[in-house]
Order: sequence, then structure tokens, then C-alpha cells
Amino acid sequence: MKTVKINFLVSCLFIFCFLSCNQQKDQKIKPIVNTQPEMELDLLALQAKNKLGKDTVVTIVNDPVYHKTKKYHAVNALLLLKNEIDLSKVNIKNTLIVFECIDGYKPEMPLELFLNAKSYLAFKDVDAPKGSNWEKIIKNGNEMNADPFYLVYTSVSSDNQEYKWPYNVIKFHFVSKNKNIEALQPKDDKKAMKGFVLFQKQCITCHAINGIGGEMGPELNYPKSVTEYWKESELIDYIVNPASFRHKVKMPTLGITKQQSQQIVDYLKYMSKNKI
Ligand code: HEC
Repeated sequence: MKTVKINFLVSCLFIFCFLSCNQQKDQKIKPIVNTQPEMELDLLALQAKNKLGKDTVVTIVNDPVYHKTKKYHAVNALLLLKNEIDLSKVNIKNTLIVFECIDGYKPEMPLELFLNAKSYLAFKDVDAPKGSNWEKIIKNGNEMNADPFYLVYTSVSSDNQEYKWPYNVIKFHFVSKNKNIEALQPKDDKKAMKGFVLFQKQCITCHAINGIGGEMGPELNYPKSVTEYWKESELIDYIVNPASFRHKVKMPTLGITKQQSQQIVDYLKYMSKNKI
């Protein structure tokens, strides 16, 4: 008797889910990506389902992480993206591809650039020592590896700063340029605008403002803005040279001048009055 009841409940639940999923699909048909919820590719989930595509070996001349020519076992990232995402429904010129890494680092680049290159997701280093997938990477004195994926290009020079080569990548996100920019842009303040442009170039990969941006470093605006608990002059100096404040600091010295740092702080002060 009991099992009949449970079976009945499970069937109801199933029918309910089926109906509600279908409803969602109908709502998603609108073809402009700007109004869609954020799209993403979960690389580990695809790997678990064996959907990454064919393995191949790629050679990378002057690899930017290892600083020498490297060979990797890899899958074709461009093909994978094209298999998983219907690009005819995406406004390509207006979309950024954001690479999410294990530690919360989130570099991004225009989707259009990504689509113009031969990109691969490396999952194993051909020259790795026995028992390991990778020759080790030394960064800031720490030993790291590139697991689970390292994004490389066979058609792009590693000097080309527009292309990102993240390792420890777990997901690709696709977000509208406008959505991010609109939310963080100081529309009515020319002075803050200069700092915003710098912030977008140099900081947003690691820091969020109002929840938008990278997660390797702390959120800088919400609930408390850094401008509310740092002395302004020290904040400016910190952004120029973080290591002069903190031992073993993870934030890099980015080559920001004091004047640029002042502009960024002016922007952060503006945003402190524009919280979520
Ligand atoms: C590669 C990642 C990275 C980049 C790029 C980066 N930061 Fe950071 N930042 C961090 C991390 C990690 C911390 C946490 C402290 C540390 O370094 O260990 C931090 C800390 C800070 C803090 C101190 C926050 C607090 O409450 O103590 C400020 C302010 C800051 N960053 C501002 C900036 C600005 C402005 C930029 C751009 C010019 C920037 N950061 C670029 C990673 C980064």
C-alpha cells in the first residue's frame, strides 16, 4: 500500500517537473542573449558525461605559463563551444566570454576574439613527470599545477595581451557586455569615469563591485566600500604597491601610477554611493 502511494507521489512530481521545465523552455526562445539568463559551460560536468570531444595533441610555441615550447593532450575548445551553444542565438559582438578558475579568478575577453582563434583545453602535459598530469608551475614561490584545464591557442602569439590563457579553468560563462558595463558605469560623473576605465582593465578580473567581477580578491564595494574603512592616502598607496603593506600579498603590483590609483579611488568613492 505504502509503495503505491509513494509511486503515485513520484509520478506527480515527475509530471509537475516535466510541465515546469517545458514552460521554462518556451520562455527562453527569445533569441537575444542580453535578456537571457547567464549562459555557462560547466567543463567538469561535460567531462563527466564524456562530452568534451576528441583528444588531440597540440604544440604551443613559447607557452606563456612555462615560457618554452610545450605539448599538451587537449580537446578542441572552439568545437566544444560550438557543439554546446547555439551561436545563432547569441549577439556575438555584445558578449564576453568569462573563464572561471578554481580560485575565483575570472579573466574575460570579447567572445568575438575567442571565436576567431584556434583554442584548446589542455588536460595533460605530454612532458609531465610520471605520476603527474603537469610539469609544475612556480608562481610567487608556490608550486601549482594547471588542473583540470589550461586554455591555450595554436593560432595566437602569447604576446597578444587581448587573449587570456587561464589555467585551473572549470567553467566558461557568457555575459552581455552591456549588462556588466551598465551596472558599474558612473554615467553622470566624468571624473569617476576615468577610474572606471582603469578598473575594468586592471582590477575586475579579481575584484567584484556590487557582486559583478572576479572573486580571487575581496569585493570592494558591498556591504562596505574599501573607501569607508581605508584612509584615502593609504588606499592609493596600497593599489600602487600592495606588497609594501602586506607580507606574502596575493595581489600583484600592476604598474599603476599614483595618479591612476587616485582616479580608481575616486571611482570607488563614487560607487560607495551606488551600492546594490
Ligand atoms: C590577480 C588578482 C588581483 C588583481 C588584478 C587586483 N587585485 Fe586587489 N587584491 C587581490 C587579493 C587576492 C587581495 C587580498 C589581499 C591579498 O593580496 O592577499 C586584494 C586586495 C585588495 C584591496 C584590499 C581590500 C581590503 O579590504 O583589505 C584593495 C583595495 C584592492 N585589492 C584593490 C585593487 C585594485 C584597485 C585593483 C586594480 C588596480 C586590484 N586590486 C587588482 C587580488 C587582485
